[in-house]
Amino acid sequence: MKTNFLFAFAGLAFFGLIFEVAVAQQSGPRGLGLINDVEEGFESLFNGENLNGWVQKNGTAKYEVVNKTIMGHTKVGSPNSFLCTIKEYSDFELRFQVKVDVGLNSGVQIRSLSKPKVNGGRVHGPQVEIESGPAEAGYIYSEGTGRKWISPQQPKHDYFDNDGWNSYRVIADGNRIQTWINGHPIEDVETAEVESLKGFIGLQVHSIKKNKGPFKVQWKNLRIKELDGTERRTVKAIKGTPTVDGKIDDLWKHVPRLKTTRAVEEHDALEADEEPATAWVKCMWDNGHLYCLAKVSDSKISGTSDEPWECDSVEFFVDGNLSRGAYDEDDAQYRTGADGLITVGATNYKADYKSVVTQVEGGYIVESRINIETELGKKIGFDVQVNNDAGGGYRVSTMKWNDASNESYQNASELGVLEMVEVNK
Ligand code: BGC
Repeated sequence: MKTNFLFAFAGLAFFGLIFEVAVAQQSGPRGLGLINDVEEGFESLFNGENLNGWVQKNGTAKYEVVNKTIMGHTKVGSPNSFLCTIKEYSDFELRFQVKVDVGLNSGVQIRSLSKPKVNGGRVHGPQVEIESGPAEAGYIYSEGTGRKWISPQQPKHDYFDNDGWNSYRVIADGNRIQTWINGHPIEDVETAEVESLKGFIGLQVHSIKKNKGPFKVQWKNLRIKELDGTERRTVKAIKGTPTVDGKIDDLWKHVPRLKTTRAVEEHDALEADEEPATAWVKCMWDNGHLYCLAKVSDSKISGTSDEPWECDSVEFFVDGNLSRGAYDEDDAQYRTGADGLITVGATNYKADYKSVVTQVEGGYIVESRINIETELGKKIGFDVQVNNDAGGGYRVSTMKWNDASNESYQNASELGVLEMVEVNK
């Protein structure tokens, strides 16, 4: 039984391989699709002619190719159906257009899985919602897991065109998922409880009740760009003046957050059962100040080294005029230890760095104020680093937001970008 299964699996994998080669040949130089011209760096997921590269899972809804679109038709009695890519993707930007009949709920699975041993192969994972509006299109639902919405709120909106094609844009980068519909930002969420950060893309045709439908949903121009983990990240700082006291006041609530998901690998000396310390960070600004709030997850607060960067601590890096390169007078490094110790690197902003630490269950909160020239629309170089001492008196992990090198304290070239905006839109 087991051997048969293995053979079947090997056969499938082999078939998949042949198929991929065939597609690669068809799609020509630089992976451009045959039918649709795709943007630089993107590859077509659908060749416009047939469903090569896709496989149907779970239900029996019908999927067919009509006029260079993938058309899905509901079927009474069928559970949710999914047309899934054979290939799996982890960090990517996905773009597509979709049109759906009013009354049908649909969606696109990302990073999804179907395992024979998990609920009989039930497709599960994050789903980007598709439905006519005003409703919840673009929010993220946890399909097939019983957890319902991943999006913390789903305020109804009217950005979905019920009669026409809708352009979706989805960026899944580390724990962060962002969506746009017809150019309007809909969701920006940090996923916590997800099964996997890698999986297939799946087009859903929902089950329907007996006396409903038939309905159809259509997709076209499906294209994807895989992110290789080195793209420069950007974040928005929102206008506002929080009290710098190490407590999270309400003002922070609607500020987008970033997460330190990139490891400075040369510092990875973690034991197998240890997690690196990481932080999510939010930024605000007002006249002359940048405010940074870091919530650090660190299972053991420690640090006995004389070198402050070897101890549990958070560092903020700024390049005030986005000039990049080796540090000059507008570049700065600020460090706050979990014990409240403040140390700063080369900078002319040294004066007046205010920072307050609160130790909390599972980590600590750092709230800081940095003196810097601010202006609506201004972009600066910015990064965050979390240093972690696991108890040995030296640093065993260093996590960063954007710059995966250990150069941020002397070279601003690889910092991410922070933009000062009025409100979070
Ligand atoms: C770096 C250290 C460096 C220190 C200097 C930190 O950000 O990770 O390696 O020695 O800055 O202040």
